[in-house]
Amino acid sequence: MTVTIVGSQLGDEGKGGIVDLYGDDADVVARYQGGDNAGHTVVHEGEKYKLSLVPSGAIRGKVGVLGNGCVVNPRTLFAEIDTLQDRGLDPDVRVAERAHVILPYHRILDGIEEEVKSESGDEVGTTGRGIGPTYEDKAGRRGIRVGDLLDPDVLRERLEYVVPQKRAVVEDVYGIAVEDLENPEALDVDALFEEYREFGRRFEEAGMPVNAGQFLTDAMAEGEQVMIEGAQGTIIDIDHGNYPYVTSSNPTAGGAATGTGLSPGVVGSGEVIGIVKGYLTRVGSGPLPTELGGVVGDTPGYEAQGEGENEELAHQIREEGGEYGTVTGRPRRVGWLDMPMLRHATRVSGFTGLAINHLDVLAGLDEVKVGHTYTLDGEELATMPARTEQWAECEANLRSFDGWEAVDWAAAAEEGYEALPENARTYVEYIEDELDTPAYAIGVGPGRGETIVRKQPF
Ligand code: IMP
Repeated sequence: MTVTIVGSQLGDEGKGGIVDLYGDDADVVARYQGGDNAGHTVVHEGEKYKLSLVPSGAIRGKVGVLGNGCVVNPRTLFAEIDTLQDRGLDPDVRVAERAHVILPYHRILDGIEEEVKSESGDEVGTTGRGIGPTYEDKAGRRGIRVGDLLDPDVLRERLEYVVPQKRAVVEDVYGIAVEDLENPEALDVDALFEEYREFGRRFEEAGMPVNAGQFLTDAMAEGEQVMIEGAQGTIIDIDHGNYPYVTSSNPTAGGAATGTGLSPGVVGSGEVIGIVKGYLTRVGSGPLPTELGGVVGDTPGYEAQGEGENEELAHQIREEGGEYGTVTGRPRRVGWLDMPMLRHATRVSGFTGLAINHLDVLAGLDEVKVGHTYTLDGEELATMPARTEQWAECEANLRSFDGWEAVDWAAAAEEGYEALPENARTYVEYIEDELDTPAYAIGVGPGRGETIVRKQPF
């Protein structure tokens, strides 16, 4: 069977920890979208590993697959694999031949476009990893796929077609001389050919390229368990998120089928677990109706630190939860849990279960609030409007819950759900009732032993 892990909010819900926990029962862990914009930290035998591309399961001896829906930066991937090998591990990572490759010019274009947009305050706040420009080329049928790196003739032909276009965009659209760039070789066909052909050889020598859908289907036919790991989250999904403040892929459950090559029937007959952080964070710009404080440069209209109404609370949660980007180190914006957002996420992905994380971070607060519904133009809404500008106008109708004190979380995880403070259970049960979905797991700390497991999905 498959177990699909989906972020229900804006990314950073603690998916990695749940993948890590439930991944113990999986044989294969496959990613279906995104690239090195994601980031997760895994602690294995006392060692800490920070990874962007290598699926965390690969550290624990599982087969890691980067599905066709991913965008792969071979520089990042091989740097991660080299680091893991230097530290004595031998990760088994396969890469879909259909996955698109992030080239150096994608990062350049990501940076230039953000810079231009920032002049009018319209930047998305991307991770700068070239994600959007790579998916753009995929949709524009001018992308380069992992399979293309394996064939020198195809690789050269593709580069000769696309690179002059990219040079023209840089020079003629943005008025930047390529020679003035920090790395002009990023737009040089010969230099790119040499480097990426070498990556192709390395992929081949390591036996990494696969037809992902077939590979996963064969694994399942042999009785293997497949975990399908989403990156980012529902509200930054290109279709179901708050466009244009989104990433360029589908983190929602539909993406698990298109991005792995397993059919929707296969994915749908497995479990789909929505990962919920007990509060809310956001990296980058865009609305956030339950926002508590603000981050200069990201929160719209927020000019100086200290302006937010609940600044201290936001600060406390940010520090307690370590809410700084894994990839970029940026402080994350912080807000209360947003139920209209979660109702939307639950409908889009059809969650069969939830994992509710970081309840320990909220411990010690007198009261914990949630945005129960919104008011827009005098009307009460139970779910998010499709238009981002309307979402920005939504006012959250807050509900208050009595807070809970910290307990020995590892002991509570061991003992089970009943060991959770009563007020925390009330909070969990409210979420379960509102979303009509059971909480399979409750995260009460960053460690592997700090999750209350109520159901093993495999
Ligand atoms: P991109 O994916 O780098 O193009 O960035 C697009 C938007 O998605 C920006 O607002 C990023 O901050 C956000 N984003 C991308 N990856 C992540 C992630 O792993 N966690 C949280 N936000 C992310």
